[in-house]
Amino acid sequence: MKLIELQTINRQYKLGQTQICALKNINLSFDKGEFTAVWGPSGSGKTTLLNLIGTIDEPSSGTILINGKDVSKMSDNQKSDYRNNRIGFIFQNFNLIPVLSAVENVMLPLQIRNVKTAVAGKKAMQRLKEVGLEHLAGNRPDKMSGGQRQRVAIARALVNDPEVVIADEPTANLDFATSISIIEIMQKLNKKDQATFLFSTHDQRLLDRMNRLIKLEDGRLV
Ligand SMILES: Nc1ncnc2c1ncn2[C@@H]1O[C@H](COP(=O)(O)OP(=O)(O)OP(=O)(O)O)[C@@H](O)[C@H]1O
Ligand SMILES: [Mg+2]
Repeated sequence: MKLIELQTINRQYKLGQTQICALKNINLSFDKGEFTAVWGPSGSGKTTLLNLIGTIDEPSSGTILINGKDVSKMSDNQKSDYRNNRIGFIFQNFNLIPVLSAVENVMLPLQIRNVKTAVAGKKAMQRLKEVGLEHLAGNRPDKMSGGQRQRVAIARALVNDPEVVIADEPTANLDFATSISIIEIMQKLNKKDQATFLFSTHDQRLLDRMNRLIKLEDGRLV
């Protein structure tokens, strides 16, 4: 069984009178432990695709199976359980909470699940260590560089030991050298944890680092 399976997925948006087809007839599947990049120009459908897999959004037609289970048949509670417990999200703008320190930001997903503070703190410190930021655990995001902030976001995405890590343009706001180091940290954690990593990029310079590449153009797989 595949971890994630997309069967003839279409996603249309209505914009006034016009219909925009953001994804057209997408058939795709992902195995456990994959490290895959979704590449394509702006507007090609990368965010739409990742949001569907993250169950943040629903397709207009087609079926998404996660561990063989049809997402459209899950209740809202089941979907939010899946999101909270099985998926880690990393965003282009890091989305850290400015008034919390690095370690407090990383602890957040555990505290949402009522994990005891001492346990959450220990797990968060372990993840910060893995991204090389143990020494900045007490710093707030505004005292960190973009690359450091994204490493905190990676630690936060992984603190729940997710099955899938979804990263929408995690390197878009970073210079090339920092982007490479972020990809390398994600690759290292992908090998260590065997979590499936799916991330999008429009940076062509990163592509030769990928194990698997999915190209989108105008909502279609190419
Ligand atoms: N909420 C929305 N309402 C209407 N159209 C949308 C909406 N979200 C996305 N679209 C359209 O769907 C298409 C795909 O958008 P999407 O955001 O998935 O592209 P992308 O590849 O992530 O682009 P970028 O590289 O700029 O982030 C685009 O034509 C976009 O304008
Ligand atoms: Mg996008």
